[in-house]
Amino acid sequence: MQVTIFGAGYVGLVTGVVLAELGHRVTVIEVVAEKVQSIRQGTSPIYEHGLDAMLTRVLASGNFQVTDTSEGVVESADVIFIAVGTPPLASGEADLRYVRQAALAIGHGLGSRKRQVVVNKATVPIGSANQVEVWIEDGFDGKPAEDVYTVASNPEFLREGTAIYDTLYPDRIVLGADRSWALEQLKALYRPILDQTFSPPPEVMRPRGLSAVALVETDRISAEMIKYAANAFLATKISFANEIANICERVGADVIEVSRGIGLDRRIGDRFLNAGAGWGGSCFGKDLSALIYTAEEYGYHPQLLQSTVSVNRDQRHRIVSRLQNALKTIKGRRVAIWGLAFKPGTDDLRDAPSLTVIAELSRLGARIHVYDPVAMPTLKRDYPELEVVYANGAIEALAGAEALIVLTEWPAFSQIGLDQIAQALSRPILIDGRNLWTPGAARAAGLDYHGVGRS
Ligand code: UGA
Repeated sequence: MQVTIFGAGYVGLVTGVVLAELGHRVTVIEVVAEKVQSIRQGTSPIYEHGLDAMLTRVLASGNFQVTDTSEGVVESADVIFIAVGTPPLASGEADLRYVRQAALAIGHGLGSRKRQVVVNKATVPIGSANQVEVWIEDGFDGKPAEDVYTVASNPEFLREGTAIYDTLYPDRIVLGADRSWALEQLKALYRPILDQTFSPPPEVMRPRGLSAVALVETDRISAEMIKYAANAFLATKISFANEIANICERVGADVIEVSRGIGLDRRIGDRFLNAGAGWGGSCFGKDLSALIYTAEEYGYHPQLLQSTVSVNRDQRHRIVSRLQNALKTIKGRRVAIWGLAFKPGTDDLRDAPSLTVIAELSRLGARIHVYDPVAMPTLKRDYPELEVVYANGAIEALAGAEALIVLTEWPAFSQIGLDQIAQALSRPILIDGRNLWTPGAARAAGLDYHGVGRS
């Protein structure tokens, strides 16, 4: 099928490359010239396992191209994805400026020779499909022919770091549309994934036993709500684990044992129960704010969702309070931070706990030395105002530091010996914001160890 995608961000680029790999003919429209340049050369502007190799392959096959204009690429498409950014406004409401621009361009370019489905893949507020339809019609030069196009919702559930895996082998595909022909068209697009009939790319093998992917066919509003509810639930699950961890600390229980004990109950499940410095990233915070905003707009007070957010905010501050308790005064003290990215496997710093911790420690007068195997250039580029010293290696960051705070569970960190950490620090305080080590082993190495939810 002919596919056109607006936006070469995480969702747009990964979706485009994967659909091209499956044999569709894909054109991605991106307005940022440097991104277009780099994608054309086979280098993805984002760090994602397997993406560059797959991008190089689909460029060479001729199935994939990227352009900076929507001119001439909308009319011929069977499916047109809107995958542009929807950043939050100060109010928490999603900013739909880029969605509107894309919808107007789509309206301008739609043909009338075949049926075309416009798919909202960006996470947009509940009811946006109707709004996008209005914008598309604003973009039409003349009156649209009857029933030649429709707007559908197909929310994205990929995680950063495993984006290709999640796209090829998702837990489910959700399609929300008001026209049966649109659902058929989208099912045809996703058929190789739904039936798992494609040959797995060498970079991202198929999980054992996966022979079909669940499909949820529903109305547009429910599809939009599924996306928000999924992220809100995952964030709530983590905030729940963090709240339990905070109680564990007080009563002397170990949250790792507690999470394992409750996670074995299949109604609860063991994933997303890791207590720590809290959740971050470009999605959870933004989507929760938008859902809270929508709920209030419709006269409902979403107490649980608000608590999910406030437990998370406090969890970041608790890391700094821990350090304060251990060090007493922070002014003038040298502190090392390992891990800046909001999670391992990415250089993304959006809403990362590290940003809050660094800002607070700076305000308290600490001298901060940081190390992250991937995300340091992003911090330098996007947050030049933060006063930190960049170390060339994990151990180098510790020299002369009176405490180490770990904020991202990069696998390389847990491979560093506790003895080595204790020796490199000038005072052996370890605030383990991701529970990488056990308190017993850390204390045996001479560290003044503070995990989350275990004592
Ligand atoms: C999240 C969802 O998991 C995806 O399904 C969704 O598509 C995506 O948002 C989105 O809306 O675009 P992502 O933000 O990439 O994906 O990251 P996650 O792997 O979900 O992690 C989010 C945060 O939760 C990270 O800061 C991570 O460190 C934290 N986390 C995760 C915990 O603190 N504890 C856990 O047990 C799990």
